[in-house]
Amino acid sequence: MSIRACVIGLGKLGSPLAACLAAKGLTVIGVDNDPRKIEAINQGQAPVHEPGLDELLTQTQGRLSAIDDVEAAIRQTDISFIVVSTPSDPAGGFSLRYVDPVCHAIGRALAAKDAYHAVFLTSTVMPGTTGGPVREILEKASGKRVGADFGLCYSPEFIALGSVIRDFLNPDMLLIGESDSRAGDFLQSLYAQVCENKPAIARMAFVNAEITKLAVNTYVTTKISYANMLARICEQLPGANVDVITSALGLDTRIGPKYLKGALSYGGPCFPRDNLALAQLARQLNVPPDLAQTVDRFNRAQISWLADLVQHQTNGTAGILGLTYKAGTDVVEEAAGFLLAKELIARGVRVLAFDPAYGQNSRGPALEKLCFAPSALECVQKSDVVVLATAWPEFSALKPQQWVRNGNPKRTVIDCWRAVKFLREEPGVHYLALGLGEGFV
Ligand SMILES: NC(=O)c1ccc[n+]([C@@H]2O[C@H](COP(=O)([O-])OP(=O)(O)OC[C@H]3O[C@@H](n4cnc5c(N)ncnc54)[C@H](O)[C@@H]3O)[C@@H](O)[C@H]2O)c1
Repeated sequence: MSIRACVIGLGKLGSPLAACLAAKGLTVIGVDNDPRKIEAINQGQAPVHEPGLDELLTQTQGRLSAIDDVEAAIRQTDISFIVVSTPSDPAGGFSLRYVDPVCHAIGRALAAKDAYHAVFLTSTVMPGTTGGPVREILEKASGKRVGADFGLCYSPEFIALGSVIRDFLNPDMLLIGESDSRAGDFLQSLYAQVCENKPAIARMAFVNAEITKLAVNTYVTTKISYANMLARICEQLPGANVDVITSALGLDTRIGPKYLKGALSYGGPCFPRDNLALAQLARQLNVPPDLAQTVDRFNRAQISWLADLVQHQTNGTAGILGLTYKAGTDVVEEAAGFLLAKELIARGVRVLAFDPAYGQNSRGPALEKLCFAPSALECVQKSDVVVLATAWPEFSALKPQQWVRNGNPKRTVIDCWRAVKFLREEPGVHYLALGLGEGFV
């Protein structure tokens, strides 16, 4: 009989996870307290914007359904993934306000269940949480013991929005914090059934897995910020080119080429808050939090630096191409383009934006005074200075002539990703590329 899994939380991570498990042959019950997500899943439609999710849902062949009752789902399944949100608290840690009630419900269901059940916590939590409050709630509500009566693992996913499905099915590594080897073996064999590659597997105690999750993401944010610092240096030195430097830097196997593109601030729902959480953890433990804090400060400072640059170029309309934190997603949380729009509007600048995935009618944080253009072309042509803030492929597909404004002054294009470098040769445009020592000095 196939494994029966329940996935609690059908958001940006949970719904692709549920669909992947069902597409790989598991019988999956998704649980959410948002009726729209339940309805979407039950109609075979993606409840969130994620490339490939609609197609994947067609491959689940009736093995995926959704309900709003955690206890009922636990009774009918062998394993459960907790993937509810863990919002940042004011100090920088992760709140358990959505995890706690889910654990109470799981515990109540386990109390009445004879068969073995393993609980896998996927939501990002602070170190000490899985073996602390999560374990305590589950044991108290069930009257049973972790390890002896049911399994518990902390198993975060290292996925990026826009490629969640590919990343989940082809991970670099699997991280498993486990209560005992039975629970860890169960999860490892499940991944072996689902993954399309043979990833390295790191199994350890809860606390080590919790620290590792934060460590991976904050190491990457440090690396990105390092490349961004090099970009800022290159802009001040004629002839310097950050891509030349980072390409060589990445050849050193101690460093490696990934996440080394000197450009703009990192954003999204994980990197900024994982960085703040590491700083908070260090503070709590009386370890100097400086490294993590400096990365965060440097990352945020780039937004006001870029706003200064825009204002220096014009006092007319600033066009922003790309509001999402990367191409392939509709998420604007902590995204450089979105934060730049906010900063410029706060300074009284008129901002006209275009994003292929985030527009006037998108749900989520919209800025009252932000104007939306119906196309990238219109955004460019109605702006005095244009910032290419997200590397959506459609922006580089615009033809050189479409960026030109006849008359004086020329339109300034600030290319944060060096995605339209062909404009260097276009005399009708004042072209500034981040990371190149041309035009800045
Ligand atoms: N999105 C990412 O890129 C990503 C990557 C790695 C880790 N994570 C972690 O995964 C977790 C989930 O993130 P997300 O981006 O999918 O969040 P999300 O906000 O998109 O989704 C969370 C879902 O949980 C549901 N939910 C909340 N309380 C519930 C309850 N009591 N019962 C049932 N459903 C409930 C919400 O309705 C929502 O659909 C977070 O801890 C996050 O840090 C996210």
